[in-house]
Amino acid sequence: MRNIVILISGSGSNMAAIVRAAEQGRWGQRMNAQVAAVLSNRADAQGLDFAKDHGIATAVLDHKAFASREAFDAALMAEIDRHAPALVVLAGFMRILTPGFVAHYAGRLLNVHPSLLPAFPGLNTHQRAIDAGCRFVGATVHQVTADLDHGPILAQAVVPVLADDTAESLATRVLGQEHIIYPRAVVEFLRGLPS
Ligand code: GAR
Repeated sequence: MRNIVILISGSGSNMAAIVRAAEQGRWGQRMNAQVAAVLSNRADAQGLDFAKDHGIATAVLDHKAFASREAFDAALMAEIDRHAPALVVLAGFMRILTPGFVAHYAGRLLNVHPSLLPAFPGLNTHQRAIDAGCRFVGATVHQVTADLDHGPILAQAVVPVLADDTAESLATRVLGQEHIIYPRAVVEFLRGLPS
């Protein structure tokens, strides 16, 4: 069975979308893949309850308990590697990763970002897009490289900006698209791996 480990920091709605897709698509039988664990750097991440309710192993590593970014990432890698993952999925995991972490999972590390990359890497993407007068925004699923919010693009969805949009209303609509493209991108990625 190919294991998927998902990392979250908050509501975990993208993780939930992937878990639901796995359940509904019977990934275990049809793709020899399963979401083996959901890990978070925050004990209060709401998504942890969803994962537990769906019978998925969870663990919390509080980054504040570590002396350095490198020490946290080393502990996180050890926790992830207990599941020998074929794929590690960042789903609203709000941590900058060390080059060592990214290199360790090179070619099997995906992220979703709420903009049409390469536009608006980093934070506050929706307000920055509104301020720039963008008529369209969107979401991107990409492979993770050492460069923050860069790396080969696997999927994108486009969302029009409406006249009365706020950062919040845009974020909601973009998130809805993330829930569609991220599970699909994971399936496509798994199909490209040896079974
Ligand atoms: C999503 O919009 C995701 O694109 C964004 O955080 C949100 C997490 O929502 N990620 C980033 O900004 C990473 N750079 P979720 O926890 O409900 O999936």
